[in-house]
Amino acid sequence: MSREYVLSKCAKIMDRVPGENIIGVEVGVFAAQLSSTILPEYPRLKKLYGVDPYVQFTKRDEWPQQKWDDLYDAVQRVMAVYGDRWELIRKTSLEALEHLPDDLDFVYLDGDHSAATIEAEIPLYEKKVKNGGIICGHDYYGTGEPGVKPSVDKYAKDNHRNLQFDEAQNMWWWRVKRTSKSEAKRIAVQKGDE
Ligand SMILES: C[S@@+](CC[C@H](N)C(=O)[O-])C[C@H]1O[C@@H](n2cnc3c(N)ncnc32)[C@H](O)[C@@H]1O
Repeated sequence: MSREYVLSKCAKIMDRVPGENIIGVEVGVFAAQLSSTILPEYPRLKKLYGVDPYVQFTKRDEWPQQKWDDLYDAVQRVMAVYGDRWELIRKTSLEALEHLPDDLDFVYLDGDHSAATIEAEIPLYEKKVKNGGIICGHDYYGTGEPGVKPSVDKYAKDNHRNLQFDEAQNMWWWRVKRTSKSEAKRIAVQKGDE
């Protein structure tokens, strides 16, 4: 992927997230191409969490575990320059949820694009995003895989989300909107009060 393409993906995320001291999550980090571009480009991004298990998954079945371990080490080395602004959680998206804050400005889903995973991720990660923030993801149309479009479309339709998509960047997104009542409920659920 060219730097211009990655920069345009970063802009699609950050141009939609207002304010300073932004906190975001990238699910599916791989070689940290997006993470290592977005952090220096956007100083107002206070903290970026990366979530990736670095283990075999369907798309890269042929990789031995050693190769994943080496990639994880390389990413940690390269990203160390960002200090506290970067934190890599070596877990699957669903395992990582409990380690993430509940007031995220954005979530970018680009991990396992199977229907089962994306359908589980969307509602759980959406709950982590604060009112006015965005949930978005890559491979809307797929790249040799079925793509996430059917699952994203269905969730958005069933839940009346204002789904937007961008063909050039192969991305989908919507802004998270809550009434104060549903926001109070979300916080109570996150705290375990309900
Ligand atoms: C397409 S790559 C990510 C590319 C990266 N977002 C970028 O733009 O540079 C997909 C990554 O998702 C990770 N992955 C696979 N299953 C996952 C899961 N259940 N949760 C989180 N990440 C997962 C893989 O290990 C792989 O590194």
